[in-house]
Amino acid sequence: MKPLNAIPPQVDFTKPLDVLFQCHQKIAANLETLRRSVESLQKPDKAAVGDILNAINTVVVHFATAGIKHTADEEQSLFPRMRAYNTQIVSEVFDVVDQLEDQHKRAASVENSMNQLFVTMVADEELDSNKVALFTDLSESLYDLYRPHIQMENEFVFPSAGKILSAEELIAVGREMFQRRQPQILSSRS
Ligand SMILES: [Fe+2]
Ligand SMILES: [Fe+2]
Repeated sequence: MKPLNAIPPQVDFTKPLDVLFQCHQKIAANLETLRRSVESLQKPDKAAVGDILNAINTVVVHFATAGIKHTADEEQSLFPRMRAYNTQIVSEVFDVVDQLEDQHKRAASVENSMNQLFVTMVADEELDSNKVALFTDLSESLYDLYRPHIQMENEFVFPSAGKILSAEELIAVGREMFQRRQPQILSSRS
């Protein structure tokens, strides 16, 4: 039986920039699922509502788990190491990193609102059109935030990180990313 939270064997944390890129592919796939699902909610076929809400639930859970780890990979492991070179490299990269961190905060706020609203939507006996409209707005905001964000990281920030950081620093980033995905061991003394 596969252990809980098992990391797929194809994930190579010695190449952290590749892993971050793969995370983006998963985020992009989830955003597409969200967009399709929300579109289906506009003219709901009663029999399909359960499946649509299940699909949205998978997306919401992904953003609340893997998505949070991905943001931590960037904000706690990658960006600080890049910033340490601030005095040596063109400031353009660091201006972009500042913008990306700001977008992370805005995305987290939208995701929180979506989570809270989704919990109430699932609890309702019937779909509430006002809630669907609000959830649709939030989904579109998230989509509009993430698409250019991911593109900027893929095409500019990660290639810059590959040039700026040493092999040892990249290995350290990958090690922290790996540790972030290990099950938490609770202290027996608490
Ligand atoms: Fe990011
Ligand atoms: Fe990212």
